[in-house]
Amino acid sequence: MLGAGVAYGVALAGCSADADTPTPSRQFDPADWESVRAQFALDPKLAHFASFLFASHPAPVREAIDRHRAGLDLDPAGYLEHDIELEEKVRTAAGAYLGADPGDIALTDSTTMGTGLVCAGIKLKPGQDVVTTEHDFFGTYDALQKLSSRTSARVRRVRLYDAPAAATAGDVVARLKAAIGPHTRLIVITWVHSSTGVRLPVADIAAMVRTVNSTRAPADRALLLVDGVHGFGAVDTRVADLGCDFFTTGTHKWLHGPRGTGVLWAQAWDAISPVIPSFSRPDAPGRLATPGRLATPGGYHTAEHRWALAEAFDFHAAIGRSRIAARITEHATRLKDGLASIPSVTLITPRQAEMSAGLVMCSIEGVAPHQAAATLRRDHAVVASVTPYDDPYLRFGPGIVNTPDEVERVIKAVASIN
Ligand SMILES: Cc1ncc(COP(=O)(O)O)c(C=O)c1O
Repeated sequence: MLGAGVAYGVALAGCSADADTPTPSRQFDPADWESVRAQFALDPKLAHFASFLFASHPAPVREAIDRHRAGLDLDPAGYLEHDIELEEKVRTAAGAYLGADPGDIALTDSTTMGTGLVCAGIKLKPGQDVVTTEHDFFGTYDALQKLSSRTSARVRRVRLYDAPAAATAGDVVARLKAAIGPHTRLIVITWVHSSTGVRLPVADIAAMVRTVNSTRAPADRALLLVDGVHGFGAVDTRVADLGCDFFTTGTHKWLHGPRGTGVLWAQAWDAISPVIPSFSRPDAPGRLATPGRLATPGGYHTAEHRWALAEAFDFHAAIGRSRIAARITEHATRLKDGLASIPSVTLITPRQAEMSAGLVMCSIEGVAPHQAAATLRRDHAVVASVTPYDDPYLRFGPGIVNTPDEVERVIKAVASIN
């Protein structure tokens, strides 16, 4: 098995770029933001402020995908012999990033898949209910609607703030606490709202839930599920330090991991039953039957993407979690300050860094968000997006692919729209 791997390595090295032409990843200097940007194949004519939607892969990730794809195309059965070791590499890298035991990490295809696995697998007693918020993702509502049809459990939505820009941690925690009933078993929240850019104080919320649970039997404790996708790869926090019971995220947004990948981490695996059959079996030697592996949906996947997730974590680690978060905060803060200074613009996202992350939403008086996004692309070569919710806003997601000059360009472009 090892021999086969070496052989593939040699074969693939032989058919990659020739020795005199270093590949972009070999030139990669993680300390230099221009070099970081150069790892992406994004259209240089555009300023990409929506790259968080669905990741563009940096060179090391593209190369890993190509390498695995070539191996699978050459000899699928032979290359698949590396499945376990390649998957373990991904779990080890994810565990280091999350600050978690790799055995507690299920590999998924998306945030949505992780939400679905928890909501479909959670064991509820008659009379137990679920609390979520008015600010969650529509996929979460669908998962909870399915949970409700399956169990008859009541699902309630609580409003955590009225004016997003003025949201405060204390008020958010108090409102959520007031909504938790004596029989609430599951609380579902989103770390950073893709509707407003508000970042919830998840660690404070988890501490509040622990207080609520202090008088409950362990089997009836309220469990906290977090959709973390817009904080993961953007905020300088170890997931394990958030204190939630379940954390689901796609790795194909701010982390710039392979499209169609994600992770579900839990410290309360006992509270859910696996939903999709696993390829790990407790009785099969070598299949490493930890909770995260048993909860990983089985079936063959787009393996070249899944395995290349290790390189996305490595890329992020090489640049540094705190440097990336600081860069995103710097861009977002400048963007919010600039937008707030334009008389026709209303900033929706909180200015304070602790109550926000990389997402920045605004509205322009008299201009529909879709029209503004279209004008930005057509006349200013700026790619923005529009929030897919009832109150649509113009949305920007400055990240590591952007420069301070591009942020200034966006501010000027928005100021010129009327
Ligand atoms: C809050 C939130 N959760 C989940 C998703 C979906 O992510 P995924 O493709 O990883 O399921 C999105 C947007 O795409 C989102 O904004």
